[in-house]
Amino acid sequence: MSAPHPAPAHPEVCDFTVFGGSGDLALRKLLPALYLRDREGHLPDDTRIIGVTRSDLDDDGYRALVADALTTYVAPGLLDDESISRLLVRVHHVRLDVLDHDDWHHLHGLLKDRPRHDDAVRVFYLAVAPGLFGPICRRLDEIGAADANARVVMEKPVGHDLASAQAINDAVGSVFEESQIFRIDHYLGKESVQNLLVTRFANTFLEPLWNFRWVDHVQITVAESLGVGERGGYYDHAGALRDMVQNHLLQLLCLVAMEPPTYVGRETVRDEKLKVLQALRPMAADDVDRDTVRGRYGVGLVDGQPVASYAEELGHDDSTTETFVALRAEVQNWRWAGVPFYLRTGKRMDRRTSEIVVVFKEPPHAMFPHSEGVTQPNSLHIQVQPDEGMRLHLTAKEPGPGGYRLRPVSLDLSYATAFDQASPDAYERLLMDVMKGNPTLFMRRDEVEAAWTWIEPILTRWATSPDRPLRYAAGTSGPTAAATLIERDGRTWQESDQ
Ligand code: BG6
Repeated sequence: MSAPHPAPAHPEVCDFTVFGGSGDLALRKLLPALYLRDREGHLPDDTRIIGVTRSDLDDDGYRALVADALTTYVAPGLLDDESISRLLVRVHHVRLDVLDHDDWHHLHGLLKDRPRHDDAVRVFYLAVAPGLFGPICRRLDEIGAADANARVVMEKPVGHDLASAQAINDAVGSVFEESQIFRIDHYLGKESVQNLLVTRFANTFLEPLWNFRWVDHVQITVAESLGVGERGGYYDHAGALRDMVQNHLLQLLCLVAMEPPTYVGRETVRDEKLKVLQALRPMAADDVDRDTVRGRYGVGLVDGQPVASYAEELGHDDSTTETFVALRAEVQNWRWAGVPFYLRTGKRMDRRTSEIVVVFKEPPHAMFPHSEGVTQPNSLHIQVQPDEGMRLHLTAKEPGPGGYRLRPVSLDLSYATAFDQASPDAYERLLMDVMKGNPTLFMRRDEVEAAWTWIEPILTRWATSPDRPLRYAAGTSGPTAAATLIERDGRTWQESDQ
C-alpha cells in the first residue's frame, strides 16, 4: 500500500510570519534556513517573510538586521549578493507587542494587503515564550487570520509539565485544528535522524535482529561541549530533562524502537512513535532513585581551555537545575521485553556527539579457542552528529598463521563520503515541510503529552528529593554515577571513538 495523501512536492506561496523575529532562533536558524532554501529556488515567488518584533524598526531596519544575521550564521561559501537581495525583498517588519490589543492592526493590514495570491498560506511561527502561544493564537483568530489557510508552528518547549502542555495545547487547539499545528522538534529534521527510518525499514538485514532476542541493550547519547552561556534564564527553569530528554532523546528512542508503519504518511509514523511512548515503563519514586542520575557541571577544561561552572554562568549557586541526565528506560512490548534503553545527555561534556548504539547479544557459544574475553559483542553505532554515519563493529580473524586470533574490526559508512555533499540544516527541511503542509516530522499533541506523562514522575521525585544534582567537572563524560548506572547491569557506555 502506498501513501494515499502525498504531500505537495513544492512549498505553497505563503506569508511566513515569525513572532520573535529578532530573537536568537529567528536570526540564527530560521532566516538562514529560509535564505538557503530560497537560494536553491524553493521559495515560490510572492512568498513574504514577516518579522514581528517589539522594536521600532521599519522594513529597511529589519532587513539590515536580517542581512547581518545571514552574514554571521550562513557559511561564507553559501552567501551571494543576488540570493541575499532576493530574500531581503521578501522581508517585512511589523512592530507589535502581542499582549497589546491595539497593536495588531499593523499585522492585520499587512496580511490583508496582498496584491497577488490573496489565498496564500499563512504560517505563524511562534519563536517566543510558550506562555504567549495561547494569547497570540486567540488574537490571530480575532483579526480573522486563523482561517483554514493558516498554519501555526510551535517551538519547544510545549509546556513545563503535563498540565501546562495540555493548557497550551487546549489554547492553541481552540483556534487551530490539529492538522494546522506544527510542533517542532528539530532533531526530527536532521538528515541522520530521518535516515534511521530508512536504515531500519528500507533494508532487510537488520529487522530480524532488531528485537529482544538479539539486542542486548540500546544506548542513546546526546552530548554537548557547550555550556548554557547566555541562555541561563530559560535553561534554569528547564534543565536537561525538559530541554533534551522529554523531546529529542525520546524522539530518537521512538525511531529506534517503533514498529514499521504501513507507509510513511503524515499520521502513520506518528501513530507508531506514540505506541512506543505509551509502552515506556512508568517510573515510581524508587525507580527514579535507582534508574536516573542528574548532574551539574562545575569548572573544568573543554578543548584545553578553562571554562566556568554552571553556577558561575548563572551568577548564583542556589539552583538545583540539572545540566546532565542519565537514565535507564524500558519499552514494555513484545519486541523489546527486558531490553534496557540507556539515555544520557549533558552540557559541557568532553565532546559534542550524538550517537545511538545498538549492542547485540554475544554469540550463544564460543567455538573459537581462546576467544573468550577477546571478542566484543557486535554493535551498530549510528552517528547522528557531528560526522553523520554508521559503524558496525564485528569480530574478524587476524590474518596470518597461528590459529584463530580474533580481533574487533569495524565497517564504516560516512555519509559525507558516500554522498559527497553536506547535509542541510534541520530547519531547512522542517520549514519547507510547514510550507508544504506536511506534518510527518512534527510532534502531534498526543505524542507530546505521552512524553510528559512518562517524564513527570521523574520531575516530581527530583523536586521532592533532598538530593541535589551531582557535580561533574566540565569537559568530562558526566558524574561517575552515570557510569555506575550502566555498569550495575554488567554493561558500559560506548564512547564514540571506541
Ligand atoms: C535545543 C536545546 O533544543 O537543542 C538546546 O534547547 C540544545 O539546549 C540544542 O543545545 C541542541 O541541538 P543540536 O542540534 O545542536 O544538537
